[in-house]
Amino acid sequence: MKLNLIYEGKAKKLYTTEEEDMLIQEFKDDATAFNGLKKDKIAHKGELNNQISIAIFEHLKTKGIPTHFIKKISDNEMLVKKVSIFKIEVVCRNIAAGSLVKKFGFREGDKLASPLVEYYLKSDELGDPLFSEEHIFALKLADKHDLSVIKKMTLAVNTILIEFFGKRGIDLVDFKLEFGKTQFGNIILADEISPDTCRLWDSQSGKKLDKDRFRFDLGEVEEAYQEIKNRVV
Ligand code: TMP
Ligand code: ASP
Repeated sequence: MKLNLIYEGKAKKLYTTEEEDMLIQEFKDDATAFNGLKKDKIAHKGELNNQISIAIFEHLKTKGIPTHFIKKISDNEMLVKKVSIFKIEVVCRNIAAGSLVKKFGFREGDKLASPLVEYYLKSDELGDPLFSEEHIFALKLADKHDLSVIKKMTLAVNTILIEFFGKRGIDLVDFKLEFGKTQFGNIILADEISPDTCRLWDSQSGKKLDKDRFRFDLGEVEEAYQEIKNRVV
């Protein structure tokens, strides 16, 4: 049962439960982009992202990746392990898109020679700037050991998800992960993995099936999320 709301982000809420070490993560229909400048609702996004995230977390578990997911509570809620979240957004890219094109002049759609891992400071006030391992250590957001675990897990998740989506006719362009530490000191995958946090292109047509449809007003936003759900759940 949900007790107290302890966190409300742009797309999710977290509630305490009767269990000290478990939280309920509720997915909202709200969508934002460009650090909250663009705001709207996407019908059924909460339930679609919850169910897509569950299918992916369950698959990752079978491959040995520890995640915060415990069980499904309802269409738009999951029970998760309570963790202390690293203030780092870890992005992994296989194909150039988004800020890689905007900031560094890559051409959209160019395949990268190897996966590119980037770190962004998780701070709405500062606009989530791109930063380096050195900044992470200077800010004491993670130590060397923790960051090497996080990077290895990110690359392992990438390999697993390229295959997972590939079998479903989807190219995994890039994605963002968040990690947390349990009370026992274990690093596990947290947050969500959904069309809000990944770029997913249909392998045949190249059609964008992710939040870029919302960011850039491409239309058929809900349909794209539904298409991903149909292919992964
Ligand atoms: P970017 O190209 O805009 O830097 O985004 C890289 C990936 O990270 C993309 O799959 C979308 C995801 N992402 C988030 O999940 N949250 C964010 O706040 C941003 C900017 C990107
Ligand atoms: N989630 C971020 C925001 O609102 C950015 C994005 O996904 O584009 O603002």
